[in-house]
Amino acid sequence: MADTPPLGVVSICGSLRKGSFNAALQRALPELAPETMAIKAVAGIGEMPLYNADVRAEGFPESVTAMAESIRKADGIIICAPEYNYSIPGVLKNAIDWLSRLEDQPFADKPILLQSATAGVLGGARMQYHLRQVMIYLDALVFNRPEVFIGSASTKFDADLNLTDKATRDIIQKQLAGFETFVRRINKGRAT
Ligand SMILES: Cc1cc2nc3c(=O)[nH]c(=O)nc-3n(C[C@H](O)[C@H](O)[C@H](O)COP(=O)(O)O)c2cc1C
Repeated sequence: MADTPPLGVVSICGSLRKGSFNAALQRALPELAPETMAIKAVAGIGEMPLYNADVRAEGFPESVTAMAESIRKADGIIICAPEYNYSIPGVLKNAIDWLSRLEDQPFADKPILLQSATAGVLGGARMQYHLRQVMIYLDALVFNRPEVFIGSASTKFDADLNLTDKATRDIIQKQLAGFETFVRRINKGRAT
């Protein structure tokens, strides 16, 4: 739609691994998004120190304040993360814990979309439901359905980490289109 202002969405990856399937998923998102949604990856969770209130008392690390600013400015957030031991990877939880301690905590009232790719067949469902629970405390607005759980990830990406599985690409496209409607409905409600 030519006269529709584009939505600016940022994506965060919950894996630091160079060959990460979740980072590969994150890279695939812009081409699967509706034309009226721009998705930009934000890095930085790997630079955040382990949360420590004594460190915080000396001032928030730049990696935390920079990510918070990117989140605040965005119309929505997409988190692509693996499941570790049936739950949220520590690096991602650490980042959320830091961000949650800011005065103007950036997840409040922010539309959030969750995606996960894992080696296991369930595709990170347990992690996502833990993440949803965390986002309740942070007053985030988590998109519901369709959900995207990419199980047996090595069969969905090729050797160069391109997302090649058609059914997975289709469900992501559908989810991103649903997320756009969700975000625009929220934005419209705020404008009135
Ligand atoms: C500490 C750890 C715990 C894991 N726990 C799970 C798990 O609970 N469920 C699962 O499906 N895969 C689990 N895995 C396997 C990950 O799904 C797999 O390593 C995946 O590729 C990680 O995502 P990435 O490719 O984006 O780094 C675990 C891996 C690690 C390193």
